Amino acid sequence: MTSSSAHQGPHAPALDLGGRTALVTGAAGGIGRACALRLAAAGAKVRAVDRDAAGLDTLAERATGLAGTVEPYVLDLTDLDAAEHAAAGTDVLVNNAGIQLVRPIEEFPPEVFHTVLTVMLEAPFRLIRGALPHMYGQGWGRIVNVSSVHGLRASAYKAAYVAAKHGLEGLSKTAALEGAPHGVTSNCVNPAYVRTPLVERQITDQARAHGIPEERVVSEVLLQDSALKRLIEPEEVAEAVAYLCGPHASFVTGTSLVLDGGWTAH
Ligand SMILES: NC(=O)c1ccc[n+]([C@@H]2O[C@H](COP(=O)([O-])OP(=O)(O)OC[C@H]3O[C@@H](n4cnc5c(N)ncnc54)[C@H](O)[C@@H]3O)[C@@H](O)[C@H]2O)c1
Repeated sequence: MTSSSAHQGPHAPALDLGGRTALVTGAAGGIGRACALRLAAAGAKVRAVDRDAAGLDTLAERATGLAGTVEPYVLDLTDLDAAEHAAAGTDVLVNNAGIQLVRPIEEFPPEVFHTVLTVMLEAPFRLIRGALPHMYGQGWGRIVNVSSVHGLRASAYKAAYVAAKHGLEGLSKTAALEGAPHGVTSNCVNPAYVRTPLVERQITDQARAHGIPEERVVSEVLLQDSALKRLIEPEEVAEAVAYLCGPHASFVTGTSLVLDGGWTAH
């Protein structure tokens, strides 16, 4: 039996993305920034996409001295044609950008529901669509979709976010099936609550929706279902993304790498 050329054996070297282009969306924010820095540290030329130009500049400064580079690419992902265009020529695609609104369904503004689905589901579809021709052409590509424990479980008051993440799970699995003959893997990473601005911003809304003071939100709402009673750090999520791009994960596709402190063990 011959071994696949894609399989590099149990003693393959650590992640080396020298010569590879990696696109990370939402790169100015918590998890996206950590992913961009991690992939640049592995030698990648990182196309850092975000609508926050100042945040991207800060990121680029922080990347100074790494083996790879970070190139700011200012883009609002609701411009779907521009998103698809931005993905052309990338070897690694990290669909990370996301937004959150915490509201009961009957108070949830339909236009916000639409925007959440556009940024967190339709844009990833268009980015994958834009990236695949180059990946298929060279017979190698890595797609990592930053989903959430909310891609696998629901929480009250997060209709748009939960719907988008469940959709992203399906998109990711479909890309895995279609990409397999072309050397392209597609996976999700599924963190529970990460210490980022997205979480800090929802504390007020969570307090109002659940009718409790803000200081009780982290322990009583965010960490209620987690066996490990702490937030996860963005760098820990970035390490999971790096694993899925590396030589030890060449047989991992169509799955969800759950970093949830035991939440889904319930
Ligand atoms: N923080 C958490 O607890 C947590 C948990 C699980 C999953 N996630 C997921 O991780 C991803 C990143 O979240 P984060 O916590 O780092 O959030 P964050 O708010 O810190 O960063 C998100 C980034 O996305 C960018 N962005 C948002 N809308 C955009 C648009 N239309 N066009 C371009 N850029 C846009 C923002 O400018 C920001 O830089 C999201 O998909 C989120 O759902 C977060």
